[in-house]
Amino acid sequence: MKAHDTLTPFEQEQHQLKIGNKTLSQIEMLVGSTPYYAYDRAILSKTVSSLKEALPERISLHYAIKANPYPPLVNFMRPLVSGFDVASAKEMLLAIQSGMSPNEISFAGPGKTEDDIRAAIVAGITLHAESTTEIQRAVDIGKQLSIKPNIAIRINPAFELKASGMKMAGGAKPFGIDEEQIPSILAELDYQMLNFRGFHIYAGSQNLKIEAIIEMHQKTFALAERLISITPVQIDYINIGGGLGIPYFAGETRLNLAPVADNLATLIAQHSSLCDIELIMELGRYLVGEAGVYVSKVVDIKASRETTYAVCDGGLHHHLANSGNFGQVIRKNYPVAVGNKMDLQNADTETVTVVGPLCTPLDIIADKVQLPALEIGDYIAVYQSGAYGASASPQSFLSQPELSEILL
Ligand SMILES: Cc1ncc(COP(=O)(O)O)c(C=O)c1O
Repeated sequence: MKAHDTLTPFEQEQHQLKIGNKTLSQIEMLVGSTPYYAYDRAILSKTVSSLKEALPERISLHYAIKANPYPPLVNFMRPLVSGFDVASAKEMLLAIQSGMSPNEISFAGPGKTEDDIRAAIVAGITLHAESTTEIQRAVDIGKQLSIKPNIAIRINPAFELKASGMKMAGGAKPFGIDEEQIPSILAELDYQMLNFRGFHIYAGSQNLKIEAIIEMHQKTFALAERLISITPVQIDYINIGGGLGIPYFAGETRLNLAPVADNLATLIAQHSSLCDIELIMELGRYLVGEAGVYVSKVVDIKASRETTYAVCDGGLHHHLANSGNFGQVIRKNYPVAVGNKMDLQNADTETVTVVGPLCTPLDIIADKVQLPALEIGDYIAVYQSGAYGASASPQSFLSQPELSEILL
């Protein structure tokens, strides 16, 4: 398979790839060594502004920090989006310190401890309760602190997001509370003891199928209307989830947002019960995934029987998802390029398997790709690496040298 570099939104200067106006070798001088992740501010801004332009104005965008919690990137995202979704107390601190208003920060994720809940209540952010235990914990801790907790309920809807990279709803799930259980919970809540803010309906992630996203939105709006009709207080928002995917593999293409946006506009017009309620879309990788590149350097080239291997100074321990070990069933290559031979991408190429330095056959950067003839010292750039990279990888595995990150 040929490395498919057509996805890259990055500039290049003669033979070198550029990220945020710096060539890969300049970035190496800045951070000291490879491997590194570099994130491009201009691409982040452009991604968010194009999405805002495409979607109906009624939709507020929230960034799910789990996709990339690198503090300079989180701080950069703060004025671009209306809110942050956090998945731990540590992410919550990042979100607060970025200057985002606590009112616009939500904390989802199962297994919130008493400490997590106490911190969230003190911070004044909104807990997305994933169970009745969490609701009770929040009410009890709120009483102890004499602060009313802000609570929304995360729903596990009866429907799923079809054709999704990760299904997070439908059937039995550890996430949210089954929609069938909600009527009795809403009937029993003591609304004096909490600020009940709304519902979070998150069905899945990494979806590139327009029909599946449209169907999910139809079912989400219908469910939201049913929930509002049985909630005895006025709510502030419905978080309609996210799930917009980005192309990673050969044959995948960017989502055409027009039909998704048209459908949302129709749903907004049809559901008058939602007219005074904020509608939030919560996205991680769609906002940041395309803005990041993982760069490592070739340190050895060797032949083994019929295969040529290029061994790099980075790999699975920094980029687990690219190695195929973060939820993929059949490993496929992310788009890669030789970052210092951009002018040769379409010239004579050779088949090579690019691996990392770990002593495990799982440590693959790109398997049997067509690349310009490699030499020791070349940069291997892995595109589409701005989400679920550094923070989603086992960085201390085999105690390799540390990784750098930079926002440019
Ligand atoms: C509740 C919730 N919100 C947001 C996300 C972010 O997903 P993505 O990065 O695919 O947009 C996830 C991903 O698992 C999630 O579970």
